[in-house]
Amino acid sequence: MTRLNNPLDQHLTKVLYSKEVIQKRVAEIGEQITEDYKNRELVLVGILRGAAIFMCDLSRQIAVPHSWDMCGASSYHGGTATTGHVQITKDVEVNLRNKEVIVVEDIYDSGRTLRAICDLLRVHQPASIEVCALLYKEKAQRASEVAIKYVGFEIADEFVVGYGLDYNEYYRNLDCIGVLDPKIYS
Ligand code: IMP
Ligand code: MG
Repeated sequence: MTRLNNPLDQHLTKVLYSKEVIQKRVAEIGEQITEDYKNRELVLVGILRGAAIFMCDLSRQIAVPHSWDMCGASSYHGGTATTGHVQITKDVEVNLRNKEVIVVEDIYDSGRTLRAICDLLRVHQPASIEVCALLYKEKAQRASEVAIKYVGFEIADEFVVGYGLDYNEYYRNLDCIGVLDPKIYS
């Protein structure tokens, strides 16, 4: 039985990943990135707001010097399904020219957000762009296929919240990831 550690957990139908499981996986990804980016000019670019918590934890598990920045994209506007239109709300400010970029995202769903962000970042002429997504949603089909180099967990096509992921801007502060009770949004 997974221990519920926050009153908001009662809005979940199940906990998929506990705090401990998430932290262990984040450390593994950090180790892998450390190995892959030795002697390279790494910059992490997190996508606001969902990836903020993941990026802060991941950065501290990467043992090579690196900088980071955030960019912003929004496609949900409060619901549980993408509107299909991705709006760029914030560009990066650090110089990405000739740098090795890893885009840090909370979840790979339709692929539209990552496609739009990678297109945006390419304009800054980095040496390379890879993607690290904490969650990889299994989908029969996607609007945009994007290659994801680092994946935390593969999940079913359900609406999840916690560890940065929101519904209507809430639940980001849960330290676990769980499936939101459909009663909350239906
Ligand atoms: P995409 O553009 O459809 O791939 O959607 C990506 C964005 O939608 C992510 O950055 C998340 O903010 C949000 N998103 C997708 N699936 C979920 C979910 O299950 N829970 C919460 N947010 C989600
Ligand atoms: Mg969101």
